Amino acid sequence: MKYFKRKAESPPVSEQHARRRRKEPRIAALKKRVEGQPKPEYIKVGVPGFDELLEKGIPKGTNILITGGPGTGKTIFCLQALYNAAREGHDCLYATFEEAPWRLRQHMSEFGWDVEKVEEKGTLWKLTIGKAGKHGSLVIRKLDPLQIARSVEGLLEKTAGRLSIELRGIPELVPTALTPHMIVLDSLSALESAFTGKPGGYRIYIEQLFRLFEKIGATTFLITEIEEAPLRYSRTGVEEFLADGVFVLYNIKTRGLRIQAIEILKLRGAKHERKIAPIQITSKGITVFPGETIYEAEELK
Ligand SMILES: Nc1ncnc2c1ncn2[C@@H]1O[C@H](COP(=O)(O)OP(=O)(O)O)[C@@H](O)[C@H]1O
Ligand SMILES: [Mg+2]
Repeated sequence: MKYFKRKAESPPVSEQHARRRRKEPRIAALKKRVEGQPKPEYIKVGVPGFDELLEKGIPKGTNILITGGPGTGKTIFCLQALYNAAREGHDCLYATFEEAPWRLRQHMSEFGWDVEKVEEKGTLWKLTIGKAGKHGSLVIRKLDPLQIARSVEGLLEKTAGRLSIELRGIPELVPTALTPHMIVLDSLSALESAFTGKPGGYRIYIEQLFRLFEKIGATTFLITEIEEAPLRYSRTGVEEFLADGVFVLYNIKTRGLRIQAIEILKLRGAKHERKIAPIQITSKGITVFPGETIYEAEELK
């Protein structure tokens, strides 16, 4: 009986050389393919302290859920990220079902952020941001979730449950004249509540939405509001499955005090810290303290 496997005898040296020569063109072709591929690009969020939680940044083009309870800073975090990107010369889109454009503009004034020019066209506002020679824009678009839900449900009835991204209901979200570098959608929860008909409508719609974001190649922050200590980070769970990343904002109770915090729960294709870092919302916006730790938390809200 054999108790061990005998090591296969090495082929003669001449055969080894021949094998290597046969492999060489394949290795060269592989090298060429890897070198020819675009290097992954990373983006910085620009919220003070936040980027220190990441080794290189957020891989460009990923979809990230920004989730947390009410008042945890989801809107301000996203607005600050877009403001910073626009300041660097990028065009960005803030699609909102929640707050009116003037309210978001007011937040920016309260935080002392510079806006060069404001063009108002009803529910579509275009803010020009940045230094001379490096202007970017922040387009704020207020949308009616009920109108989108009704039109999607109507289409699904007509097309026997099929929906394609060419159909109405989605293009109105991203203006056709704009190719945004970053998109914020505030919020998926407001959109989900507007779907009252067949339960599949919302699911089908957001699947198409994720496909659209992939096609555009924009880095996207999708806000979802949760009410309790999270067991899952989105209402239906399907958003979490579709997203590349999840950032959670917390309101933590410690000894009668509430501390606000942020965590990168998951992010595909990026190395990041695994900690709940305290944040502060002040008259200048959000600051993250990546080097500090929260002790004695009684609950996570
Ligand atoms: N100018 C400010 N100074 C300090 N804190 C502020 C300021 N504006 C808003 N906040 C804080 O930010 C929180 C609201 O953040 P927001 O992003 O609107 O929350 P969410 O979108 O998660 O509901 C509030 O809880 C408030 O305490
Ligand atoms: Mg909000």
